[in-house]
Amino acid sequence: MSLDSCLEGIEFERLTPLARLAKKVVLNPLANRLPASWWKKWLGNGNSELAQANWGNPGGWRSMVISYQGKPEKLWDRLLVNGGTIPMALRNRRKLAGRIIASLIDQVDHEPVHLLCLGAGPGMITADALAMANRRADATLVDLSDDAFDFGRQHATEMGLRDRMTFIQGDVRDVVSRIDQRVSIVKTIGIFEYITDDEIGGIAQSLRRVMPAGSAIVFNSISLRHGTDRFFRRVFGLHMIHRSPRQIQELLDPAGFGRFDIFPEPLGVYHVVVGRMEGKNLGESPRKPS
Ligand SMILES: C[S@@+](CC[C@H](N)C(=O)[O-])C[C@H]1O[C@@H](n2cnc3c(N)ncnc32)[C@H](O)[C@@H]1O
Repeated sequence: MSLDSCLEGIEFERLTPLARLAKKVVLNPLANRLPASWWKKWLGNGNSELAQANWGNPGGWRSMVISYQGKPEKLWDRLLVNGGTIPMALRNRRKLAGRIIASLIDQVDHEPVHLLCLGAGPGMITADALAMANRRADATLVDLSDDAFDFGRQHATEMGLRDRMTFIQGDVRDVVSRIDQRVSIVKTIGIFEYITDDEIGGIAQSLRRVMPAGSAIVFNSISLRHGTDRFFRRVFGLHMIHRSPRQIQELLDPAGFGRFDIFPEPLGVYHVVVGRMEGKNLGESPRKPS
């Protein structure tokens, strides 16, 4: 099955033209321009869990889970999680990436099928993909936060996947160079926007040792289309690095990745991108940066 056809039937979240206009003309300028101290006071007084999660760990796994679950109790969280463009786009990205990875699992030409998930948080996208795939695969998940894994183990158990998901606490910049198991698919959804160009390039070089020719890397780009970067920086302390799919492709190319396929989610905030390890043998010399 082609990757395009595996996406049929996904129910994405979309914005009506009127909602887009209201965000562009009124809501985003208000969010971006009102003093950050006002927002912090309102969100603090309203016990916003999304704000608390970001203040404790900007861009961490907990805010991701709050956005995924989509049913917060507090009024501010209901407004932000259900109406905010980024949380909607995050849920779209989860659906898109989960389907794509499941389809890639079914297409792998060797056994056993093994996923390496970097900056995996509690592994919700990984669990989605393992559950949707028609064949068996297992996964190693790496994240800085070990508290993500308590939640992740519980979630994996509820999905009947506990014996297929191994959690490793550590910094992906160190852990990747120590992994020696052959990897069929690498997933880096939700991490490149938090690390530098050099770090992405370094991780890509390390992956070369464990990814056979034809194996896939699945990552995402993020664009400024959400229109609320200033709000997220000032109010949540979230400093994301916005890069186009092409900019990330150029960082991965010197390590031997190519044949990129790009899949946008409908809000235009995220693109999920699949690249392939080119070359013939594991450990082959990387291409020189051009
Ligand atoms: C935005 S969350 C994404 C979680 C998950 N990949 C998803 O998309 O649902 C980013 C995750 O990356 C982790 N992270 C950030 N920098 C990291 C690093 N250098 N090494 C390991 N994990 C990292 C954070 O702890 C966090 O759990």
